This record gives sequence, structure tokens and C-alpha cells, in this order.
Amino acid sequence: MLLSSSRCLVLLLVWNSTDAGRILGRIKERVRNLSLQKAKQPLQRVKEGRIHQQLDHFDRLDVSTFPQRFFVNEAHWRRPDGPVFLYIGGEGPISESTVLAGHHVAMAEEHGALLLALEHRFYGDSINPDGLKTENLSGLNSQQALADLAVFHQHISQSFSLSQRNTWISFGGSYAGALSAWFRGKFPHLVYGAVASSAPVRAKLDFSAYSSAVGSSLANEAVGGSEKCLVAVRDAFAAAAALMGGNASRAAADFGCCQTPKNLDDQIELMQNLADIIMGTVQYNEEGVLMSINELCGVMTNTSEAKVEEMRPYNRLVRLAKIYRSSSGEPCLDISHEKTVTALMDTTVHSGRRTERQWTYQTCTEFGFYQTCEDASCPFSGLVTLRSQTELCLMLFGISQDSLPERVAFTNTYYGGDNPHTHRVLYVNGGVDPWKELSVVRRRAEGGEGARTVFIKDAAHCADMMSRRATDRRSLAEARQEIEEHVVGWLKMAALEMMV
Ligand SMILES: *[C@@H]1O[C@H](CO)[C@@H](O)[C@H](O)[C@H]1NC(C)=O
Ligand SMILES: *[C@@H]1O[C@H](CO)[C@@H](O)[C@H](O)[C@H]1NC(C)=O
Ligand SMILES: *[C@@H]1O[C@H](CO)[C@@H](O)[C@H](O)[C@H]1NC(C)=O
Ligand SMILES: *[C@@H]1O[C@H](CO)[C@@H](O)[C@H](O)[C@H]1NC(C)=O
Repeated sequence: MLLSSSRCLVLLLVWNSTDAGRILGRIKERVRNLSLQKAKQPLQRVKEGRIHQQLDHFDRLDVSTFPQRFFVNEAHWRRPDGPVFLYIGGEGPISESTVLAGHHVAMAEEHGALLLALEHRFYGDSINPDGLKTENLSGLNSQQALADLAVFHQHISQSFSLSQRNTWISFGGSYAGALSAWFRGKFPHLVYGAVASSAPVRAKLDFSAYSSAVGSSLANEAVGGSEKCLVAVRDAFAAAAALMGGNASRAAADFGCCQTPKNLDDQIELMQNLADIIMGTVQYNEEGVLMSINELCGVMTNTSEAKVEEMRPYNRLVRLAKIYRSSSGEPCLDISHEKTVTALMDTTVHSGRRTERQWTYQTCTEFGFYQTCEDASCPFSGLVTLRSQTELCLMLFGISQDSLPERVAFTNTYYGGDNPHTHRVLYVNGGVDPWKELSVVRRRAEGGEGARTVFIKDAAHCADMMSRRATDRRSLAEARQEIEEHVVGWLKMAALEMMV
């Protein structure tokens, strides 16, 4: 993930087709864009605010601050005692849609909640005035982000005269889902319950399981996959890799690349881009942005082509890349590694709408999450190694690759990995989503109390967070109901506690 994370919906990024960088990152932007269009309510009901946060909450002598953006929607709030639903921003800018659309908004309407959303520090409009220079990124980490949430709680409590009677529930998806779980875990007196959607709470340096899980989803018949489809993808990547070794310019021409690969780095970039199209399709299956797994497998296993030649897996992959290019409006695939690195080195604030530099920093210093392909079960190209992915840590931030395992281990020690002993945290995951591998998916014994989990067997990444759609599968509709039952249960329990 380099740049591939997780990221759930609900944000708006300005599309900039001249940006180099991974396709998966751009796919995520489209997912975010989509959710804004779904926010049909008038935007004037939303208030945008700024809070001046300490740059370093843990250094009392450092008085520097940065402006952090938040949104408030009071339209549904039952004053003065109604609950507070907090949407936590993740590794990207947030927009008004975070308090206008989505399952948490539907629940707020139903239960009279005040809706809040806080943008993550160093993303979007909440960037350190000195920009994104490496020496100024030291305050970018999840611990500081959780402290931001605590200060925000205080700020909102004062400005809305909130009391103990206002029950706070937090929501978040993907990285922000992990923040939601951790906020409850570290500050249980501030937030009564937390929903953590598709939350990778276990940091992992070499996340090769991601690619294997993508493979399993391609073979999953419940969502239109098949063993044949997985085999075709695997064969196509093997053929592409072989051609790359023989005649790289021919491969580049076949896949509609903007450049001819100049070196091994560009070749890796090309294989990564091709894998991204498939990863993005699986991660956001049936979420309305890309084609679905069913459609992808239809292309990869099409046996009704006129020419036998056209039915070879390699040519199916060429076709798939073409379909991707035309549906995304990208005239060609940018495979220049040099351009990618140059974009990641840009530290100016005007590029603040981009998220790749900041998220890369967080993967290098806290989470890993590198979607490598060294494992035998990976259906893509073995060129994508941990070494090739983590070179950026050294190149961009001077962080040695050897130091990464300890950094990731610290994150798991600090938060508890996938056995976090959290209470009143609901972990929601989709069976199609590769990120489920790093989340809490099973009930575990926790001092007599199991972690609460909802598992949606045929859903993709963060699907539960989106507003209801007519085309939703039954399992997804039922899962949203189950989530709401938990939230309602927490609100009732909190009300009872207030009476005694
Ligand atoms: C996202 O939305 C903006 C504003 O509506 C639009 O200009 C842009 O092209 C969209 N980006 C993508 C990737 O669809
Ligand atoms: C950014 O780093 C420079 C160099 O260390 C320092 O002088 C400056 O105060 C930093 N700015 C912020 C906002 O941290
Ligand atoms: C590589 O492919 C190109 C384009 O198909 C072709 O013109 C060229 O002759 C090939 N080179 C080799 C060494 O096969
Ligand atoms: C398979 O290929 C044929 C011939 O090109 C085309 O008409 C058909 O739509 C394709 N089917 C799928 C599922 O892509």
C-alpha cells in the first residue's frame, strides 16, 4: 500500500491526472469522490471549523500549533442530551460528506445525534504550516492523532456545553477504523463505544497476505470469481513478466504505458500498476467505482473471442488494462518511477491535497502494510518485493530499512495488535476485503468477554460505512442492522448508567 492503503470513502480529492504514483491511490480518490456525490443534503447545514492543536502534545515546552479542520452537522441533534457521533478522518482530506452521508449519518438521523468529523493531522487542510519537510513530519503519527481527538472532545464539549449525559460514539474505516478502536481503547472515558470498519489494527511490515487474499477473492464464486479466473490472472502476470524480461518496450506498448521502461524500477512500476487494477477491483468490489470481480473475471476468462490468440491470458490482461484506462480517463499508464519519487519528494503545502507522502511516512514509521508479492501464493509479479517497496523510506525520509521491523513491532506493543483487549469496540469486516487479514474477525476470549465482531462474508472494504443502496446484498443490509443494534445497545446502557 504504499500508496495503497486502505482508505475508506467519504472524502474529496481534486483529481490531478498529471500526478504520478500508484493507481490504487487514484482508485481510492474515485471512491471518495463518489461518496460526496451521494451526499444530497444541502451543504449549508454543515459548519466548518478550525481548532489550533499543539504540534506535539507530548512536549509541554513546545508551543507551536497547526490548524486542524473539522465539520459539524447539528441538523439531527436532539438537544441538549442527544448523543455525539464522531467520524474520525484517516490518511486523506475529509469533506462535508463525512457528516452528510454514510451509515453513521443515517443512524444519527434516527437517534438524534450531533455529527462531527475531524480531519487527521498533516492531511488535507490540516497541515503543519512548514509543509511536509521530513524534519517537520515528526508529529505525524497515530499517538498524536489520538491526542488530537481528546483535545477536540474538550473543544466541542465546551462550545456545545456538553456534559456526561451526551454519549460519544466514534466511527472510522480502514486506518481511521483502527484509530476509532484505539481512541476507545486509550480514552475510554471520552468515547463510550466505537465502530471500527475494515480496521487493520495489527501492523505488519510484509503484508504479503494482502495479495494472497486478493487471489482468494478472485476465486470466490459467491462474488462471481472462479478458480479459472485466478489461474488466468496468474498466467497473465507470468507471461507479462516473461515478456518484460525479453522485450520490455513491447510490453509497455501492449499495456498502453506513457513511457518505455528505462530500468528495472520502471518495470516494477508497470507490474505494480497492473496489480493495482486488480487489487482495486477486489478491494472495492461492487462499490460502484470500478468494474466488479464478476466483470473482471468475465474479461479474464472470456472464451467467446473470435481469435484464439485473443483468449490467451496475457491478451486478456491487455484488454483489462485498456478497459481500466478508458473508464478512468487515463490516456496511458504512467510507469515512470522517477516521476513517482519526484512527486513523493514534493514538500510544499499546495500539494497538501495529495496524501501519498504523508501516508508513506506513516507506513515507514508505524505500520508497514507493504503489499508485497514474494509469497508463492501471490498471483502477481514477484518483482514487487519488500526491499523494492521500502527503498522509499530511505530515499524520502532517511529511515533505514533495517529499522522497520522494530518500528512496526512497537506499534503492536503499544496498541495490542489484533488482540487489543478492547471493550465496547465493534470490529466490522468484509470477507472479500484483503484488509480483513489484519483486523479482528473472530470472537476471542477477553477476560470472559469476547471482542465484538461483524463479518460480512461477501462485502468489500468499508462497504458497511456507505449509505444504503438498492443494489446492496442482503448480508450487507443485515450487517448494517446488526451494527445499529450494537450502537443502540450502547446508548441504552449509557442512559441506564446515568440513572444510577
Ligand atoms: C472528483 O470530483 C471532482 C469535482 O467534482 C472532479 O473534478 C474530479 O474529476 C473527480 N475525480 C475523479 C477521479 O473522478
Ligand atoms: C520545521 O523544521 C525546522 C527545522 O528543524 C524548524 O526550524 C521549524 O520550527 C519546524 N517547524 C515546525 C512548525 O515544526
Ligand atoms: C520488441 O517489440 C517491438 C514492438 O513490438 C518490435 O518492434 C521490436 O523489434 C522487438 N524487439 C526485439 C528485440 O524483439
Ligand atoms: C467476450 O468477447 C466477446 C467478443 O469480443 C464480446 O462480445 C463479449 O462481450 C465478451 N464478454 C465479456 C464478458 O467480456
